[in-house]
Amino acid sequence: MKNFVNIKNIYGILDSNVMRLSGAEMNEVEIISDAYMKIENGRIIEFGDMANWMQNSAPTIDLKGNSVLPCYADSHTHIVFAEPREHEFELKIKGKTYEEIAAAGGGILNSAAKLGETSEEKLLQSATQRVQQVMRMGTGALEIKSGYGLTIDAELKMLRVIQKLYENFPIPIKASFLGAHAIPSIYKSNPKEYIDKVIYPCIEVAAKEELAEFIDIFIEKNYFSLEDASRIMDYSDKYGLKPKLHVNQLSNMGALQLAVDRGALSADHLEEMTQLEIDYLKDKTTIGTVLPSCSFFIKIPYAPARQMIDSGLAIALASDYNPGSTPSGNMNFVLSLACIYQKLTPSEAFNAATINGAYAMDLSHELGSISIGKRANFFTSSEMNSLASIPYSFGRSMIDEVYINGERV
Ligand code: NIG
Ligand code: FE
Repeated sequence: MKNFVNIKNIYGILDSNVMRLSGAEMNEVEIISDAYMKIENGRIIEFGDMANWMQNSAPTIDLKGNSVLPCYADSHTHIVFAEPREHEFELKIKGKTYEEIAAAGGGILNSAAKLGETSEEKLLQSATQRVQQVMRMGTGALEIKSGYGLTIDAELKMLRVIQKLYENFPIPIKASFLGAHAIPSIYKSNPKEYIDKVIYPCIEVAAKEELAEFIDIFIEKNYFSLEDASRIMDYSDKYGLKPKLHVNQLSNMGALQLAVDRGALSADHLEEMTQLEIDYLKDKTTIGTVLPSCSFFIKIPYAPARQMIDSGLAIALASDYNPGSTPSGNMNFVLSLACIYQKLTPSEAFNAATINGAYAMDLSHELGSISIGKRANFFTSSEMNSLASIPYSFGRSMIDEVYINGERV
């Protein structure tokens, strides 16, 4: 057992049975001021007013007026990659669009070519540094996708790297198989063949060796069609992989509806949404995940998260950390963008990045709030006056210490 005492504010207290927050609930954050918290076996067992704390013989950490917040659950990342794509960044500055760069052989295919030549050890090494970096910025759970392999060997190499990260790190790490991220040039005229020859065999191995829990597909013009996506999910359903899909990033072609109809855990991106599609998500198990740092970096529209919450939806925020559209995993900055460009309140942004992010990776029974029985994955801050301090102080993190399973990292 371990005590944390003299906490200025504990933010994000929820009943343990709350799995996500929707609509107006997203603006509510329960706080206890002048508080204590007890941890046992890595889990929260008690918290309350400091006045009610009973001194005991267990180790006691005096937080000296710092605040406590649950860690972020970053439910959408592509954190395993071979190299940054700074050259494309310069092309973008000179006016090329994300789509033009991809059409000219850059983009995902560029990352795949580099990943094919990079050893598993080297990939693990660079991804390890990125995981350490995002943990320092408050991330306490991560979803990571494959999708820069695009051959059987390279996709499985990526999934094995993710599995090693899962084994090496104390935070929960979940894998999504995203072989359907781009169509390799040799299959350009026949994406069906790519699905048969690469995607299907990978699904079999990923399921058999438990290398992935989720299936992801980039459903978009010039990538995978609705028909391709349906075929892939017909196959992955048999192996029990749950869909978590890239939809409505560059166009709206019915991908959001397909995600909902397929019972996807999350429908991610959503930059191109009409009210019809917003209404389609209402009261569904599928959560809408928005990625404002992708919109910021490649200058595409922001997902209409304000309208979505006003329409009663649950929204999750995630980073999309990847070398092309979002070379940053700073969830504090994601909160700033959500407030500034998507008009979320700081409370809504906080809930979207914690409890709702946890839901979007099927972990809200385990973390995402300060609740009895949940993992003690939290961070402390000496500077916070209110929740608004995080998005207000854009570009940096207010985090002093990060605790995972009650242990300081
Ligand atoms: O989520 N949209 C598809 N995939 C990534 C970007 C991939 C890349 O450019 O490397 C995304 O933005
Ligand atoms: Fe993505």
